[in-house]
Amino acid sequence: MMTMQMTLGTALINRLGYGTMKLTGPGVWGMPRDEAAAIKLLCRAADLGVQFYDSANAYGPRVTNQLLGKAFHGRTDLLIGNKVGAERGSDRSWIVDNRPETVRRQVEEALLDLQTETLNLIYLRLDGDGHGPSPSKDIPLEEPLGVLVELQKQGQIQHLGLSGAGPEELARALVLTPITAIQNRFNLVDRSGIEVLADCERYGIAFVPYWPLASGKVLDHPSLTAPARRLEATPAQISLAWLLRRSPVMVPIPGTTSIAHLEENIASARFANQLTSEEIDTLTKLVSERDAHLASPARITRDTTNSVKRD
Ligand SMILES: NC(=O)c1ccc[n+]([C@@H]2O[C@H](COP(=O)([O-])OP(=O)(O)OC[C@H]3O[C@@H](n4cnc5c(N)ncnc54)[C@H](OP(=O)(O)O)[C@@H]3O)[C@@H](O)[C@H]2O)c1
Repeated sequence: MMTMQMTLGTALINRLGYGTMKLTGPGVWGMPRDEAAAIKLLCRAADLGVQFYDSANAYGPRVTNQLLGKAFHGRTDLLIGNKVGAERGSDRSWIVDNRPETVRRQVEEALLDLQTETLNLIYLRLDGDGHGPSPSKDIPLEEPLGVLVELQKQGQIQHLGLSGAGPEELARALVLTPITAIQNRFNLVDRSGIEVLADCERYGIAFVPYWPLASGKVLDHPSLTAPARRLEATPAQISLAWLLRRSPVMVPIPGTTSIAHLEENIASARFANQLTSEEIDTLTKLVSERDAHLASPARITRDTTNSVKRD
């Protein structure tokens, strides 16, 4: 039996978290149409046992951190992982900007928005999976990470992580500081972030797969039908259960704006140990992990038989 909990930093948490990105207005921009409903959803997640929440200064920008601050102000039983090092352009574009001054400012903003004196987990967003032109592309990760280590020593940050990191970046980061979590893209149809998974297992670092449901694209994948039928589960639940079984350090952060989907996703943990080894193998082998690596985002397209291809 694989456990559905892991120690993240100093806290034992349920491995199924929640990703807040889509709680903003459309296009991950501005406040949600119904702010009270967004806060209600966060509170429902906490009631259902979700202890780990994913956010970033770039979501909104600053909107998801403000929602989390309003929902969870003063709660010490929940962990929020927040990414710094990405900005939004006025045209709503995504820009990796992990210059030391940006990272320092974003930590200050996150402290204000999350209404806390200490941030649980700050990830440094790297450009590993190619978000486009970046003002920080020539700056070595040691510079912004050095700033975060300094802020950690001052007590503003508890734990540090990386997002969009390969094994080389992880090794360089570990020279400077312990790393608690890596957040990379990884799901049933896109294994781009896998290269660091073995190191995460070796060092007990949480591997946080972002887009765990491939932003909804996995939900009608034919490979999920048989196990879903056998276990009377939904495809989303099988997809998340497979992630939980894929590694004991896997901490998925599915996003949803629907309380019904939230409840469904959280219930998926109970199916993880019910999947057979053969079912796990079939789902794992759906995509070759051997050649998977970060770099430009994998484009997922569907052909007429509804199978998923990467090109
Ligand atoms: N590090 C990075 O660069 C990075 C990049 C992207 C995302 N992230 C993080 O990853 C988190 C998750 O990503 P995501 O929310 O974009 O994608 P996701 O979790 O892969 O999928 C979310 C999508 O699936 C749908 N969905 C969720 N549960 C469902 C269910 N049970 N049944 C049917 N549909 C369901 C949602 O729609 P409904 O709202 O209708 O449920 C939504 O469209 C984000 O919130 C963010 O925190 C990080």
